[in-house]
Amino acid sequence: MLERDSKYVSPAYTRSYPFVMARGQGSWVWDIDDNKFLDMTAGIAVTTTGHAHPEIVKAISEQASKFLHMAGADFYYENQTLLAEKLAEIAPGAKNRRVFFANSGTEANEAALKLARYYTKRPIYLAFYKAFHGRSFGSLSLTASKAVQRRYYAPMVPQVVHIPFPDPYRPPFGIPTEKLTDTILDFIENTVFHTVAPPEDVAAFIVEPIQGEGGYVVPPSDFYPRLHELLKKYDILLIDDEVQAGMGRTGKMFAMEHFGVIPDVITVAKGIASGLPLGAAISKTSLMNWEPGAHSSTFGGNPVAIAAALKTIELLENGLVENAAKMGELLKNGLKEIQKKFEFIGDVRGLGLMLGVDIVKDRETREPDGKLRDKIVYKCFENGLLVLGAGESVVRWSPSLVITEDEVNVALEIFENVLKSI
Ligand SMILES: Cc1ncc(COP(=O)(O)O)c(C=O)c1O
Repeated sequence: MLERDSKYVSPAYTRSYPFVMARGQGSWVWDIDDNKFLDMTAGIAVTTTGHAHPEIVKAISEQASKFLHMAGADFYYENQTLLAEKLAEIAPGAKNRRVFFANSGTEANEAALKLARYYTKRPIYLAFYKAFHGRSFGSLSLTASKAVQRRYYAPMVPQVVHIPFPDPYRPPFGIPTEKLTDTILDFIENTVFHTVAPPEDVAAFIVEPIQGEGGYVVPPSDFYPRLHELLKKYDILLIDDEVQAGMGRTGKMFAMEHFGVIPDVITVAKGIASGLPLGAAISKTSLMNWEPGAHSSTFGGNPVAIAAALKTIELLENGLVENAAKMGELLKNGLKEIQKKFEFIGDVRGLGLMLGVDIVKDRETREPDGKLRDKIVYKCFENGLLVLGAGESVVRWSPSLVITEDEVNVALEIFENVLKSI
């Protein structure tokens, strides 16, 4: 299969190891040779309810037997309305929200970015270095995660200004951690707004509550509340990209709830439908003032994906968000214990089930060790544990939210043994 795949499938895909999926159940997956693995990736933070959750499978089959498609932008169907209502209900802040449906994270962000320009009539976007917002041209222009994602694709969408991210572990320009929030906000207000981005021309700032592809980086707790205050002063919209961190993963339905901020627009995808393709841009009602035809999508809001999403949210509300908080705590504590035994683990960080283990050459200098990280990820695979990398040197832990205490312990045991063998 690997040989045939390499002949016909795009070489742009980044496979870290040769896992060929045959089937899955909960947190477990089997390859085509019937080897069994514990999946701590959830298909890159997607299968919120685990693999093949019987209630999700049932919801999908029931909807599939009624109709597969009718174009929610051109016709009505009940479950699209119900999901919009539900998202309005669970999004932070008051219920006055409207939803645009898409098929993926990048499309949800395209919708948010277009809406921000349409509403404000302003041209400029702000985003962070190390941010990942997707790969289509609009969202790619905001993405600043890795050079390989942008190389040879210029010109990008113009009028994007990138700002250093307040990373407490590797602060930009060595800014002392306690001064990170003040320094970055001062840079935005007194340098960026005075030079390349007059605030009257800035439509929106798009942020990830926790940087995902950038290496699972959590900013200081006062950063987003204070950034939002600054943006409000200049009528600049805050777009909260919850594509990876949202839908319960961090132990709250939306990760921005950890910071007490109510964004103007929230985007979700990945985990919302347990594995079926669905994205959404959820905006304050007054803001989503598009005229008919201003934006649309043939497949966005597919009824089968929506059936999966409604069931996913029901399961999240009935215990899985809570489980993510509890199991996340266990996993993080276990990883922190392991950190004590291995000098090359520089940092263990994250919230809920969005955890990163940063591999370094030296704990003092915090120099990233990407090669060793890759070796660890591969050895984990050889030992029956699926993890993936994030950022330059981070082992990413993003399991399904159905994970149990026993499974957390199995994962920790395999991980520790792999590190010992290395
Ligand atoms: C924060 C964030 N935004 C957007 C995207 C893009 O999502 P998609 O791959 O569904 O287009 C991703 C994907 O990893 C993501 O992590």
